[in-house]
Amino acid sequence: MTAIRKCLFPAAGYGTRFLPATKAMPKEMLPLVTKPLIQYGVEEALAAGITGMAIVTGRGKRAIEDHFDISYELEHQIAGSEKESLLDGTRELIERCTFSYTRQNQMLGLGHAILVGESLIGNQAFAVLLADDYCLTEGDSVLAQMVALYEEHECCIVAIEEVPTEQVSNYGVVAGAEVSPGLYRVDTMVEKPAPADAPSNLAIIGRYLLTPAIFDVLRATPPGRNGEVQLTDALQSLAAQGKVLAYKFTGTRFDCGSIDGYIEATNALYQRSREV
Ligand code: UTP
Repeated sequence: MTAIRKCLFPAAGYGTRFLPATKAMPKEMLPLVTKPLIQYGVEEALAAGITGMAIVTGRGKRAIEDHFDISYELEHQIAGSEKESLLDGTRELIERCTFSYTRQNQMLGLGHAILVGESLIGNQAFAVLLADDYCLTEGDSVLAQMVALYEEHECCIVAIEEVPTEQVSNYGVVAGAEVSPGLYRVDTMVEKPAPADAPSNLAIIGRYLLTPAIFDVLRATPPGRNGEVQLTDALQSLAAQGKVLAYKFTGTRFDCGSIDGYIEATNALYQRSREV
């Protein structure tokens, strides 16, 4: 069994960039070809040996819970037909994973969403996966790569990638000393800096391994940029104690929270599905 047993999915955001599609439907249920974004996230966590899926939802997100449940009427309807196998992957996730849910009733930011998830996580290290960052890898999933690192270092780890300088203002940005190829001991973290103020072009993407120390720090973190409780601000205080690593993962990330990234991911997966 791995040291990380639960993955938290903050999925309460409004997804305003996809309006009107996300008016009554969660952004996390947007499909890449035939599977919703959140299913890819759950598959990635399971591929890292994690079976406890803890999902922070909000108003209008019921479809996520229904997706990871049995749909008797539908399944009865397609039983025995060639369509039955289309649900095999989802059924396997339902059988192998445990899903738990809680609601964030005010959208006060990613840091706040993680704090709301504390009741589902408890006092243990855990993964965080933002389902709108879809990661395509040839070998181990990004979370699996990070879990292997966690077993060695036992501290917070954020996944990073290099982005063009003019895009740093869309991300949390880190800087620090490179301790081994692609692995940095973080000393500085800034949320959405102006390009001129950015300490580097190493941007945090939606994969984290966090120790439970983060909860107390988040509780003490005042709202930052946009009046939201920023995870980056909380991590900065752990980084100041040398307790945060940043890892340049192997693979390709698509920002499916943006329309361009979503279309690119759709095209990449469609191509793949044609090749097999
Ligand atoms: P985003 O910054 O992408 O915000 O959140 P959003 O609301 O989902 O999308 P836009 O910008 O309005 O289009 C990053 C992640 O944090 C979660 C979101 O669900 C997403 O997975 N989040 C954000 C919460 O769970 N709660 C919040 O209060 C804010």
